[in-house]
Amino acid sequence: MSRIVLVFLAAILSDALSYGQVNVEPNTALLNEGDRTELLCRYGRAINYCRIEIPGEQKVLNLSPVWSKTPGFTYYGAGLNAGQCGVSIEHVKASNNGQVKCSLGVEGEELSGTIDLVVALRPKQPMIELITKPNRDGYFSENTEFHARCIVRDGRPPANISWYIDNMPANKNTNQLQILSTPTHDNVELSTSVQEIKWHLAPEDSNRKLVCRSHHQTDRESVPAQEAAYIIMVRYAPVSQPEASVYGLYLEHTAIVNITIRASPPPTIEWNVAGVVIPQGRTEGRYSAYDPQYLGNDLYNVTLAIGGLTLEDTTKVYQLRASNEIGIADYSVRISSSSKPPSSSLDVAAIVGIVVAIAVLLLIVLLVLFARATGRWCFGGATLNTDLGPDSEAQIHPETHEELDGQDNADEHIDTTPQSEEVTPPVTDKLEAQKKADLKKSAAATAAAVIAAGNGQQHGADAPKPPNTSV
Ligand SMILES: *[C@@H]1O[C@H](CO)[C@@H](O)[C@H](O)[C@H]1NC(C)=O
Ligand SMILES: *[C@@H]1O[C@H](CO)[C@@H](O)[C@H](O)[C@H]1NC(C)=O
Ligand SMILES: *[C@@H]1O[C@H](CO)[C@@H](O)[C@H](O)[C@H]1NC(C)=O
Repeated sequence: MSRIVLVFLAAILSDALSYGQVNVEPNTALLNEGDRTELLCRYGRAINYCRIEIPGEQKVLNLSPVWSKTPGFTYYGAGLNAGQCGVSIEHVKASNNGQVKCSLGVEGEELSGTIDLVVALRPKQPMIELITKPNRDGYFSENTEFHARCIVRDGRPPANISWYIDNMPANKNTNQLQILSTPTHDNVELSTSVQEIKWHLAPEDSNRKLVCRSHHQTDRESVPAQEAAYIIMVRYAPVSQPEASVYGLYLEHTAIVNITIRASPPPTIEWNVAGVVIPQGRTEGRYSAYDPQYLGNDLYNVTLAIGGLTLEDTTKVYQLRASNEIGIADYSVRISSSSKPPSSSLDVAAIVGIVVAIAVLLLIVLLVLFARATGRWCFGGATLNTDLGPDSEAQIHPETHEELDGQDNADEHIDTTPQSEEVTPPVTDKLEAQKKADLKKSAAATAAAVIAAGNGQQHGADAPKPPNTSV
């Protein structure tokens, strides 16, 4: 219903303009050069003649299904009697761009309609224009605003623009796409698309590739979107980072203490080990500071070699100061002879071990309670003397644990396995002691034996490694 009303309204409107209702199909035809197209004008009643004017063509076409006078342009439609006046264009030319006008001879009058024929023209290669300029060497300073525009000239229809940084859509401040008309000498209207982008530069932006890509009607798989690129270069002070750790160093060997730092321009470095200053490229005693080694992308491998690593060396903090023309940053590195970071040694396996240990203890508590409730006589033979054995063991246990930890510090990273046989995680130790105090009242030698068996099992099955606390 509403559709009919709309058509009716449209009819009234077009009546007001042309005093006749010529429907056109399509209203706008967007084509590439060389495309074939059909354009149609329709009137409700039979028409006497059908004339069509196409921009860029010398002749006005007088078309009918019965004749075809101009090669490449033929009548299109269901016939003049059906009120249809259309043209089929074999190959659209760039010069055909503009308004196609159809004139329909009807009952002593002439009615007309127009169709916009847009023949796409590929725009020029995009261009990136810097609005804020870099310094003479082509560098921007950190925190300055990078402001540029992308210009895609002379497209028809206008090209769209999208931005990328290192092939990822640039999630930055862009303004609305501006489209400017650029009339050419032969009155062919073309459009220039312009878009600006801006953001504050961070060290990470250095060496990134900013790309402006134009998207156009004429893009094809064989004719991909055109783009312009600009490599952004930023100068900044060495970038600070949290304390670094180097693991797996061997005592008595030459140790390499390394840290990767980011800076532009290249940094000059200086190590400081407990007051001993080792400038870049120099050796002080057992310490040798290498020149920063460029890894690409503004990253530098900074290395200190320590000859014959001692245990004391592993307790020191290695301070590094890196500086360039822009500023200074201080870093610190800790080293360890253990092969893994401490945090990762208390991993899933250890947690599972603790959980299993708790479960075993709970089971024993339940067993003992059950035994006490049902058959007290079972424990009748126990004396206080037999209790001392397991109880004293529980007191000694935590101490041996600490001792072993201390030993672990002293050891090279290789042998941690033998210790794990003896050491139980502290949590189970406590529970065990509590449990045993509980048991004292019943003074059950047999129960103690069960605990011992349970512990043995637990060590054998899970052997949770102690947290590796070496320096
Ligand atoms: C350009 O953008 C407009 C609006 O987002 C969209 O309708 C049109 O299809 C785009 N053109 C091209 C060639 O990507
Ligand atoms: C030291 O260098 C190694 C590779 O040679 C690297 O895996 C490690 O991450 C570096 N350490 C630091 C703290 O940068
Ligand atoms: C850093 O330099 C040291 C010493 O030259 C080298 O052993 C190490 O592999 C380097 N690390 C990286 C990540 O290049």
